[in-house]
Amino acid sequence: MTFKEQIQQGIPSILPQPKPYEVNINHAPKRKDILSADEKKLAIRNALRYFEAKDHAILAKEFYAELNTYGRIYMYRLRPDYEMKARPISDYPGKSEQAKAIMLMIQNNLDYAVAQHPHELITYGGNGAVFQNWAQYLLTMKYLSEMTDEQTLTIYSGHPMGLFPSHSDAPRVVVTNGMMIPNYSKPDDWEKFNALGVTQYGQMTAGSYMYIGPQGIVHGTTITVLNAGRKIAKNNESLAGKLFVTSGLGGMSGAQPKAGNIAGCITVCAEVNPKAVHTRHSQGWVDEVIENLDQLAERVTLAKVRKEVVSIAYLGNIVDVWEKFDAANIFVDLGSDQTSLHNPWAGGYYPTGISFEDSKSMMAEHPELFKEKVQETLRKHGAVINKHTAKGTYFFDYGNAFLLESSRAGADVFAPNHIDFKYPSYIQDILGPMCFDYGFGPFRWVCASGKPEDLEKTDNIARVVLEEMAKTAPPEIKQQMEDNIQWIKGAQQNKLVVGSQARILYADAEGRMKIAEAFNDAIANKEIGCIVLGRDHHDVSGTDSPYRETSNIYDGSRFTADMAIQNVIGDSFRGATWVSIHNGGGVGWGEVINGGFGMVLDGSAAAKKRLQSMLFWDVNNGISRRSWARNHEAIFAIKRAMETQPLLKVTIPTIVDETILENL
Ligand SMILES: NC(=O)c1ccc[n+]([C@@H]2O[C@H](COP(=O)([O-])OP(=O)(O)OC[C@H]3O[C@@H](n4cnc5c(N)ncnc54)[C@H](O)[C@@H]3O)[C@@H](O)[C@H]2O)c1
Repeated sequence: MTFKEQIQQGIPSILPQPKPYEVNINHAPKRKDILSADEKKLAIRNALRYFEAKDHAILAKEFYAELNTYGRIYMYRLRPDYEMKARPISDYPGKSEQAKAIMLMIQNNLDYAVAQHPHELITYGGNGAVFQNWAQYLLTMKYLSEMTDEQTLTIYSGHPMGLFPSHSDAPRVVVTNGMMIPNYSKPDDWEKFNALGVTQYGQMTAGSYMYIGPQGIVHGTTITVLNAGRKIAKNNESLAGKLFVTSGLGGMSGAQPKAGNIAGCITVCAEVNPKAVHTRHSQGWVDEVIENLDQLAERVTLAKVRKEVVSIAYLGNIVDVWEKFDAANIFVDLGSDQTSLHNPWAGGYYPTGISFEDSKSMMAEHPELFKEKVQETLRKHGAVINKHTAKGTYFFDYGNAFLLESSRAGADVFAPNHIDFKYPSYIQDILGPMCFDYGFGPFRWVCASGKPEDLEKTDNIARVVLEEMAKTAPPEIKQQMEDNIQWIKGAQQNKLVVGSQARILYADAEGRMKIAEAFNDAIANKEIGCIVLGRDHHDVSGTDSPYRETSNIYDGSRFTADMAIQNVIGDSFRGATWVSIHNGGGVGWGEVINGGFGMVLDGSAAAKKRLQSMLFWDVNNGISRRSWARNHEAIFAIKRAMETQPLLKVTIPTIVDETILENL
């Protein structure tokens, strides 16, 4: 059977042979065994809905075994035999070019080179699911292969509910992931309802088919380190000879040493897992590995004298590094942390004084003791950072719940008002005011032809557009424009592509629209093939997350989620090809609502109209909310947007004279 025929077939009516469990694949951890006996039957009854009655007896046993062994029913037997990767758009069967582009993006999220646990349909973050099981994947691909531009496919947490009549300007696909009645949004609710097969954790770009591998993180981390460096610069000096200390060489955290090198500082990144150290070192993402604290101190002192640009992995605990540098009086200019504290009790954070292997067995065999050890280390961690910041270190939280969990452990990290933390998050001090409030965020595109030449052409088009815009950019955003021009100039040389031919580029509303328009013209002129536009959900408007994306909102509204919901609704009627809205992502289930979109450009006049309408809204919605929260950078940006678009009329806040409040 050809690839096209296999896609069109959907769930095969003759069951394929069971598949052996491949041990050399990175598999998802066994999930919690949370269902009662009756609930397990319900989970199996639910799973069997996808199959003909003739197969129920055999599959019921198999799914029961999967549920007991892995905590979930993945339907491994149905995993397709063809290679999982983004193919050129012309390889996909179908009647709708938009639907074909979505198939390409789905396959990219499940590519073995891209996905973290490809057999469990997890793209990243340990639980970021594209689908809950292989039946959902097969059925979705079949629907996409037969739909027309007069239909919309609705997807409920991976389950393709079906094709509904709509119209050519409507989204082809509407995705919801993990949307719960608010009171049922605790971590164990995810365990239970995911095990029942009725919801999933879509993370951000996993469940919206918009993940593009590690380059997205490298770009964002570089911008963060660069701007942190500018924040601490006294006389506009560069980061040369300055020291950045952090931790984690995992999925996202592993980008830190590479970003430190691009930003031009000395980076020390502690990592307890030897495998993670080896992976990042062998990939060239970190320059040197040191296993001894005295040697580390010596090496760093030398690098400071020589003003070297170098990244060093320390194989060991981050708390030991901070303590050593304090004792040895090594000044740290920038400090952060990227251990996985969104998951503190199950391997996201390792205690000091216990080996990596012993920690792993302790967390499984003595979870209460392990929790105590983690909290003890977190208290030490907070205390030693306080010592460094007293000497002048600039420390920021990297959205990994470090300050949240440290405070819960009793570390001294609260500000005097006992509400705020002593230290800002990277969004509060850096990405929020310097990027998001002006509309700069992780815009991205994928060349649907699959041709590297197309990507090179689009890089050039984007560069020319940005260089033109930079000539008249106001001083407030000149620096961002220059950083982004620098990034796009180096993009080809940095060889960042893993999976589809994709590129990330921070841009504001005007930049995104102008770049997209230039792409659409180039497609019309047959210079390049179709383009899929999108963005990370970690952006200006798409995500309401009080400890991350919206942590620099100070009017009390950071615990609301109106912006993310308005955004997805607004995108869907302004021309998005697909939209998605998720509960959970990055910081945890119940802690964030985030959404994204995909848009196919085909060179047509209709595509031009859609991109202008949707991209303008997709960025300015968030700027208007940030402006209403009195963020002065956003007030500047939304006023500027109103000058360019007379149909935009946004309510501008009146700022209160604080002395009036002081006397109340
Ligand atoms: N990079 C970003 O842009 C970004 C943005 C927001 C949030 N985050 C957060 O950063 C965290 C890290 O993400 P990730 O994908 O790299 O996770 P990950 O789990 O892949 O990596 C974290 C690493 O930290 C190591 N580690 C744990 N405790 C340690 C300790 N005490 N000392 C030294 N090393 C230790 C672990 O072994 C692991 O390899 C997550 O909580 C994520 O949500 C990252």
